[in-house]
Amino acid sequence: MKKKAISPDKGNRLINDGCTILVTAQLGEKSNIITLAWQTPVSSSPPMAAISVAPSRYSHQLIATSGEFVINVPPLSLLKAVVYCGSVSGRDEDKFQGAGLTAESAAVVSVPLIAECIGHLECQVSQRISAGDHTLFVGQVVAASAAEDLFEEVWQVEDERAKTIHHLGGSFFAAPDKIVHL
Ligand SMILES: Cc1cc2nc3c(=O)[nH]c(=O)nc-3n(C[C@H](O)[C@H](O)[C@H](O)COP(=O)(O)O)c2cc1C
Repeated sequence: MKKKAISPDKGNRLINDGCTILVTAQLGEKSNIITLAWQTPVSSSPPMAAISVAPSRYSHQLIATSGEFVINVPPLSLLKAVVYCGSVSGRDEDKFQGAGLTAESAAVVSVPLIAECIGHLECQVSQRISAGDHTLFVGQVVAASAAEDLFEEVWQVEDERAKTIHHLGGSFFAAPDKIVHL
C-alpha cells in the first residue's frame, strides 16, 4: 500500500475519531504489536498523542525502556488481527507472524510500522503518567503517514478500505459509514 507523508500537526486526524489502534514497539531485535482502544490526541502544537497501557503488558516494558512507539490505524478488514493482537502476549508469540502482518521501516523512529495499516503516527515518549491500573504514555508525534487515496483532509470512511475500527466493549465493534460535512 503506497503511503504519503502528512504533516505531523495534522496527524491527530488519523485517530481523532477514537479508533482502535495497533501499537508497535521494539527493543533490540524484538518487536511487538498490542491492540489498544484507549488512546487520544492531546496536543496539536507540538503534535502529541497519548496511549493507556497496563503495566502487565509486554508492550509496556518495550515502550518504557525504548521510549518509542508507533500508532498504526487498522482498517476494518484487519478486525481478526486486532482481536488476536489483543488476546495473546508478545512474551509467548511473534504477533507479526501470527497475524500475518508485515513489518516496515518507519521514517524516524526505530520501531517498525505495520504495512497493512492505513495510517501511522511515529511517537517518542515525552511523559509517562501513572493513572490507576494503567500508564499513560504521552508521545510526541515526530512523523505521520496515511494511505494516499484514503486520507484526504480526513479519513474517507465511505470507502470500505478506509473504515476504522471502534471498540464498543467486549467483543462488539463498530465502523463508520458516512462522512457528514457541515
Ligand atoms: C479491542 C481491545 C482493546 C484493548 N485495549 C487496551 C488498552 O487500551 N490498554 C491496554 O493496556 N490493553 C488493552 N487491550 C488488551 C491488550 O491488547 C492485551 O492484553 C494484549 O494481549 C497485550 O499484549 P502484549 O503482552 O504483547 O503487550 C485491548 C484488547 C482488545 C482486544
